[in-house]
Amino acid sequence: MKKKIIILPGDGIGKEVTIEGRRVLEKIAKSYGHTFEFDEAIIGHEAIEATGNPLPDETLHKLKNCDAILFGAVGHPKYDNDPSLKVRPEQGLLKMRKELGLYANLRPIKLFDELLEASSIKAEILKGSDILFFRELTGDVYFGEKGRKDNGDTAFDIMIYSRYEVERIAHKAFQSARTRKKKVTSVDKANVLESSRLWRAVVQDIGKQYPDVELEHMFVDSAAMKLIQNPRSFDVVLTGNLFGDILTDEASQIAGSMGMLASASVGETVGVYEPIHGSAHDITGKGIANPLASMLSAALLLDISFGLMEESKTIIRAVEQVLKAGYRTTDIADAKTIKEKILRTHDMGNQVISQIEKVNSGYEAVGSYSNS
Ligand code: IPM
Ligand code: MN
Repeated sequence: MKKKIIILPGDGIGKEVTIEGRRVLEKIAKSYGHTFEFDEAIIGHEAIEATGNPLPDETLHKLKNCDAILFGAVGHPKYDNDPSLKVRPEQGLLKMRKELGLYANLRPIKLFDELLEASSIKAEILKGSDILFFRELTGDVYFGEKGRKDNGDTAFDIMIYSRYEVERIAHKAFQSARTRKKKVTSVDKANVLESSRLWRAVVQDIGKQYPDVELEHMFVDSAAMKLIQNPRSFDVVLTGNLFGDILTDEASQIAGSMGMLASASVGETVGVYEPIHGSAHDITGKGIANPLASMLSAALLLDISFGLMEESKTIIRAVEQVLKAGYRTTDIADAKTIKEKILRTHDMGNQVISQIEKVNSGYEAVGSYSNS
């Protein structure tokens, strides 16, 4: 298979982890005889510094002319505490989502058994959790009209949804639930918000086309509580842009660490694959970031954009083996982790790559799989 992949490292640890994500794709290409052609582009703070624009035209052009995108993160502390800055790194990300029509953000929350102890939640509550979030990504308060009035003393962001926006992501969620445990939990705030009442009505309509899938509605406050109280009760979660942003960070604790979570943004054109963690400037440059979410994002890319299931599974199995062998980055280490097995970013990358070789040659160094 011949494909063109754009690497979009962005800011902070985005650069450090996408290097490892790219290496894993290169390894897969070599092992399975595919030709992946890579190119890089700039976005976010780095792009503002270079061009004044967080999503330069040159970047957008490259993104529109490739088969898949592996993205890192955007953001810089300079902007966080200075609301007066008008041009911001995050605008690059939002514009990319809009321009590429990436209306569905899939965030799988799957816990590797080896990381049960790394979470701040009790192992017996977590064990067996497997949730797939469908977060709407190009609507809601993120893209509604925003502004100031009363000489700047009043500010507003309009929360807005149209029927077609809810319909298209609802279809994706129901279709996916059919391949899983056949349950969709739609999360909204329909007891207060008009946009949520439309959301709920549309999801009910679409649900009728999937009578084999159980549909449940939940208010976002209650969903936030139930996710921690009983994560196993969820299968597919369907929600809007803002609620999905918040709930998926919360749900990352179910997977042990933000450093483990990959995501896929798909829709009308090319797909973007990225870790859900941000640019993490507090650890940038230290070489200790966890590259596994980027590597697992590469696995999602192979599966969803290229239909390469076997290759995708190979990456996931390799990650599983590395964890089974006791290797950790600092964010997922616990009291029982042997000090020598706490790895730096690049060394963790090396471990996964050498496991791919072993998985691929049928030789698994550590343990074997019973459930995959
Ligand atoms: C995410 C991020 C972004 C969002 C930010 C960086 C704009 O938090 O992808 O979840 O809010 O969508
Ligand atoms: Mn977020």
